[in-house]
Amino acid sequence: MTVHFIGAGPGAADLITIRGRDLIAACPVCLYAGSLVPQDLLSHCPDGARIVNTASLSLDEIIDEIKAAHATGQDVARLHSGDLSVWSAMGEQLRRLRAEGIAYDVTPGVPAFAAAAAALGAELTLPGVAQSLVLTRTSGRASSMPEGETLENFAATGATLAIHLSVHVLEDVVARLAPAFGAECPVAVIWRATWPDQKIVKATLGTVEEATGGERGRTALILVGHALGAEDFDESCLYAGDYDRRFRPVGTDPRFPETAE
Ligand SMILES: C[S@@+](CC[C@H](N)C(=O)[O-])C[C@H]1O[C@@H](n2cnc3c(N)ncnc32)[C@H](O)[C@@H]1O
Repeated sequence: MTVHFIGAGPGAADLITIRGRDLIAACPVCLYAGSLVPQDLLSHCPDGARIVNTASLSLDEIIDEIKAAHATGQDVARLHSGDLSVWSAMGEQLRRLRAEGIAYDVTPGVPAFAAAAAALGAELTLPGVAQSLVLTRTSGRASSMPEGETLENFAATGATLAIHLSVHVLEDVVARLAPAFGAECPVAVIWRATWPDQKIVKATLGTVEEATGGERGRTALILVGHALGAEDFDESCLYAGDYDRRFRPVGTDPRFPETAE
């Protein structure tokens, strides 16, 4: 018996991996985090599957569900939104499963930041502008931020920021980022990327509060950084015509000469 943790993707039901879909179809038990996992994914469950929305369950109750499946040798599909490597509460479940001696594996999913960037049609790491992406959040009722992981510190690096779980405190986010990034720095707020009611507002740190019209509810990601919407950036060397590399040797003395086969 195995518990399969599966990244369910950002919203659109066809953004799950083929492996994730096939695992759902093979498991007689499905536990899903109902607040963000699309209901359409449950159509992959086999007939007669036990399907449980864990949104209202405690960790103990979730582990009890898994232990009950374990006792009868039934595999479990455990669905969380996006990818499991960030803000999925998978870590604490895995720790309990290790203590119980219950086997598990993990199948990745499309994270919200990637879905949001795709909705914008944006690359978040542009040569000469930003080469790092920080996935972060602000502190919430259930989670405080470790010392040092402040928006001010991240802004000082100039990296592109993908700020989760924070649209309700947009004013505070702007106030903390503007001194380092400047009021002209581009911002995009993407609500429910890939869901039918997806919404995008593009603005700057100076205009985003007004541009979003006070819409602070629902699931949204805030992307901030000079890479957003930049046109004045370097082209990458990788595709430059005179850049000598293994897959495209160039010049009279290439580093990786083609070998005659
Ligand atoms: C608990 S975290 C889950 C993150 C998820 N594990 C991932 O890989 O993206 C929930 C936060 O992710 C962001 N989020 C999740 N799905 C989203 C979507 N479809 N569009 C925009 N933001 C989303 C929002 O900031 C939301 O508050």
